[in-house]
Amino acid sequence: MLRMRYRIKNILYKDPESLLDKEITVSGWIRTVRDQKSFAFIELNDGSCLANLQIIADSALLSPDLTTGASVAITGTLKKSQGKNQSLELAAQKIHLYGRCDPTSYPLQKKRHSFEFLRTIAHLRPRTNTQGAVARVRNGLAFATHLFFQKRGFLYVHTPLITGSDCEGGGEMFRVTTLNDSKDLSKDFFGKAAYLTVSGQLEGEIYACALSDIYTFGPTFRAENSNTSRHLAEFWMIEPEMAFADLQDNMECAESYLKFCLNYVLEHCFDDLQFFDQFIEKGLVERLRAVTNSSFAHLTYTEALEILKKAPQKFEFPVDWGADLQSEHERYLAEQYCKKPVIITDYTAAIKSFYMRANDDGKTVAAMDILVPKIGEIVGGSQREDRKDLLERKIETLGLKREDYWWYLELREYGSVPHAGFGLGFERLVLFVTGMENIRDVIPFPRYPGHVEF
Ligand code: 4AD
Ligand code: MG
Repeated sequence: MLRMRYRIKNILYKDPESLLDKEITVSGWIRTVRDQKSFAFIELNDGSCLANLQIIADSALLSPDLTTGASVAITGTLKKSQGKNQSLELAAQKIHLYGRCDPTSYPLQKKRHSFEFLRTIAHLRPRTNTQGAVARVRNGLAFATHLFFQKRGFLYVHTPLITGSDCEGGGEMFRVTTLNDSKDLSKDFFGKAAYLTVSGQLEGEIYACALSDIYTFGPTFRAENSNTSRHLAEFWMIEPEMAFADLQDNMECAESYLKFCLNYVLEHCFDDLQFFDQFIEKGLVERLRAVTNSSFAHLTYTEALEILKKAPQKFEFPVDWGADLQSEHERYLAEQYCKKPVIITDYTAAIKSFYMRANDDGKTVAAMDILVPKIGEIVGGSQREDRKDLLERKIETLGLKREDYWWYLELREYGSVPHAGFGLGFERLVLFVTGMENIRDVIPFPRYPGHVEF
């Protein structure tokens, strides 16, 4: 006979009626034990959903080892509950203890812990309600990502993590080497300088320029020394790239993708979102619904600067044409001015990467960033420069090495096509959807300056 492994999510949400009065075994970690003298209520959680399963256990089944954090398998009969907080409960017949959990030293006691403290126990924090909910929503968003692009016929392409080329030109790359003293690169593993990738875009473009619509979804690495609540040294990025596409197609794709993700988690992770709404950000569910129900705002970089100059508030950084938008500017535009996601296009060429397509005005490029309330930039993208002579000139004026990009240039020599794409920072999406404040709390094991534990 095949044995069924019951998860609490399946018991509570799938088809509870079919399990009523049946004997089942459920495993998990004890959250609390409430002793009522002749019997006790045990709250059991297995992480499959936010909800606990309530167990009623006769005092004869209890032992001092059944404490918060202990792992158990409980066999019993599923009953309709008399209590008003839950619909079902398990009347226990047998309790098997897998692992004790010393209540005098277990760091996750019932009291609420700060997120900073929980980061120091990243091996235990997935057992908290918040981290469990983050993990489930993150999973939902990853699945929604594949669903969206697969439904649209995009191919999932695996681009390399170790690379010899710098996509963003920021020089914020981690070196990959097997040498202790890496002065003589010819002796190194790859015989030349190698890095962890900052973006899969350039390789993604190669595949788009053969297979039309592709996307990547993988980890990317940046050695920028920014200790902010929006930056990680290792983060995941989704990068679609479309051939025979321009900036309009790019914006349509990005807006539809974001809305698809929000709708997906509103449907499939609703309990977790309600939890975030109650404990992390009041009004979260309404905020997400509002985003899915209205069109994103549109501004050019030049228009955005005019708005910032007239803003009734002082900014720390100057707002001059030619300067990059700082996080305070981005948040003002999305939060105060537009009060919804806004797509900023046609940035000054000076602040954007070499690969962006030059506009006819000679000053701006066909770039588009999406800024959202609370976060600022969540998407960065552009139409790519598909004219070989212009691209060559750009590489030269920026002082990049032509020989590093010979293959990138050849794509413009042999059957060049207009193409466009964008990158969405996955953790920023998780922040946006959960209302969490710090990016270090929406990735299982955050990497940032000075932190590589676990
Ligand atoms: O704007 P970025 O640098 O764009 C690119 O990397 C392009 N190659 C994308 C493309 O066109 N295919 O990064 C894209 C997004 C940002 O909008 C932001 O959401 C996120 O990646 N991001 C980070 N997220 C967390 N930590 C960091 N240090 C990040 N840097 C960028
Ligand atoms: Mg950017």
